[in-house]
Amino acid sequence: MMDLFSDIDQMERDEILALRRELDEANRLYYVENAPTMSDRDFDAKMRRLQDLEKAHPEMASAQSPTQHVGSDLADAAGSKGEHFVQLAHRYPMLSLGNTYSKEEIQDWVSKLPADVEIVCELKYDGLSISLWYEHGRLTHALTRGDGVRGDDVLRNIQTISAIPQQLDASLSQIPFLELRGEVLLPWRNFERLNQEREANEEPLFANPRNAASGTLKLLDSDEVRRRGLITYLYYMLGEQLPGTTHYERLTLARDWGFPVSDAIRVCHSLDEVMDFIAFWDVQRKTLPVATDGIVLKVNRLSQQQQLGYTAKTPRWAIAYKFPAEKQLTTLRKITYQVGRTGVVTPVANLDPVQLSGTMVQRATLHNEDFIRQLSIQEGDRVWVEKGGEIIPKITGKESSSLTCSSNAASCSEASSKPFHFITTCPECGTPLVRVDGEAAWRCPNTSTCPPQLKGRIEHFVSRKAMNIDGLGQETIDLLFEQGLLHDIADIYSLRKEDIARQEGFGDKSAEKILAGIEASKQIPWARVLFALGIRMVGETTAKKIARRFTSIETLQWATLEQLTAIDDVGEQIAQNIIDYFLDEHNLSLVLRLRQAGLQFQESPSSPSATASQTLSGKTIVISGTFLHHSRDEYKDLIEIHGGRNSSSVSAKTSFILAGDNMGPEKRKKAESLGVPLVSEDEFLQML
Ligand code: IVH
Repeated sequence: MMDLFSDIDQMERDEILALRRELDEANRLYYVENAPTMSDRDFDAKMRRLQDLEKAHPEMASAQSPTQHVGSDLADAAGSKGEHFVQLAHRYPMLSLGNTYSKEEIQDWVSKLPADVEIVCELKYDGLSISLWYEHGRLTHALTRGDGVRGDDVLRNIQTISAIPQQLDASLSQIPFLELRGEVLLPWRNFERLNQEREANEEPLFANPRNAASGTLKLLDSDEVRRRGLITYLYYMLGEQLPGTTHYERLTLARDWGFPVSDAIRVCHSLDEVMDFIAFWDVQRKTLPVATDGIVLKVNRLSQQQQLGYTAKTPRWAIAYKFPAEKQLTTLRKITYQVGRTGVVTPVANLDPVQLSGTMVQRATLHNEDFIRQLSIQEGDRVWVEKGGEIIPKITGKESSSLTCSSNAASCSEASSKPFHFITTCPECGTPLVRVDGEAAWRCPNTSTCPPQLKGRIEHFVSRKAMNIDGLGQETIDLLFEQGLLHDIADIYSLRKEDIARQEGFGDKSAEKILAGIEASKQIPWARVLFALGIRMVGETTAKKIARRFTSIETLQWATLEQLTAIDDVGEQIAQNIIDYFLDEHNLSLVLRLRQAGLQFQESPSSPSATASQTLSGKTIVISGTFLHHSRDEYKDLIEIHGGRNSSSVSAKTSFILAGDNMGPEKRKKAESLGVPLVSEDEFLQML
């Protein structure tokens, strides 16, 4: 008996360690990579389980446990490359919120508060938190949450949000330090526009507006940040000797002082009022321009907040109620298959239409064969559809078979479901599919004549970051493709005005515009032409690096695996894809036709790399801090085109550090200990 108990103990201890690892990794993917793999609901459930287990095993307590610290969005903390922003310590730690999906727990929380308590209810915005510092009325820093103790200063990106005041009224300049916290968000509309562009440019899509906002705020290019259109709602004001004795008063003041504060705030005096607020917004939130994932309840009186205090990770005076993910049961009528630009075949669930989060859902992705097998779903099954943080609705499971059969025979899955077999040939061109070792996807290998692959490659070629041919959108490409006027990217350059003008919805004017775009594309520089060719895994940045090393297509065509992998960011797989591309006769003939059309297949003599020196040859340079004359990206380019190598971390191999203002203290310390010299911005420019 004793043995059995200690076995259980051991199992629970193992589970604690496994959960810690899993939650740490989920935090990293969520906060650093902006590419979550676990749903919020699963994350919260696992966190709960870990908390319970740690309570049962106090001997396993650890300050490093994810139950004891907030997830970190600091790139360096996760070992990822590059320190893009200066990090600063928060004046007040930036905590997380306790949360629950259960109304009973909300009731429980409220019941433990003092009898005369007032509770402020607010929307829980689903973006990323920001801390704005105002020193004597001027906005001086804007920190991300980071690890809760230190954050990245993303001031220049925050300054693109016009609703955030840069300078407060003169009467407020006597306040030495004022901090406003809130949420940075990308409205649904901007998020959808951004993802459409990313799709056209073959960049990975953001799963939800939160990830998009977070990825945007960490960009180095503030113009791009401005273009994407972030917004913010502020929900917490703190500092010393500020006016107001309640949270609500402070928010009202903040609004009067010109800060963007939401109107969806209510001071509640009873649990009923709180529940009303929750019920109202659970429905109304679907009409809001931004994503919300719950309601935040905060004790209104600051003196009571102080009495309640904090745990290591969360305030005791606030809690979040999270809305349940909306899900619906419906029938999976048919599994169909979609072929993407790269030939990947994705199974799609065609459903009996159901209403979900305000939209009618009829199709959902089934990802790949393994996913379908794991859920063991078949055509005819009753399945659960959810719209969580992700854009595309997903199937999360099937109704258990005992519940499936109702008196209505049509909805009985046992009777009507058909065993599942993934297709073996391409639904578009009939070619037998292949499955690459280690990949979950089946792929159509017919790159040269499979229609969606051909059309997809043309769409990529004309997209904004590639050849940027205005007017040639997806629909026009479809049209010209169906008419047999466009089979491949080189055909674009043989299009005649009358070919376009005679299409429905087109006239002379629009045809002329498209032709002008095509003509202009002949001046697009070599690096972008290389990206436009659509070689597998050669994205925009990689194409730039390759084009810098191989300044013409002739040299690239004969490049060896070793030469290619010597380029930063080019691994063996990419190198092999490039080699394979030039071994394919069809591609060679395409390139020849494009060359005859007059495209740029070599670095133009006026471009910087052709005229650059080898001044920095053999030098490894680390960039740190902020600069006056050029952006960090420009300095990276300058280093490379003068023959040097840019590296993100200081080591004994570092030749020197290009040190700007506010250089990171860690880097400075490391440089000192290794004796790596610092070179100022002016000294560096003189060097060149
Ligand atoms: S109050 C100490 N209010 O939710 C007070 N947070 O899961 C802490 N959030 O990190 C925050 N809407 O990013 C507060 N109205 C709101 C909020 C809100 C969204 C976010 C915030 C926080 C996270 C906790």
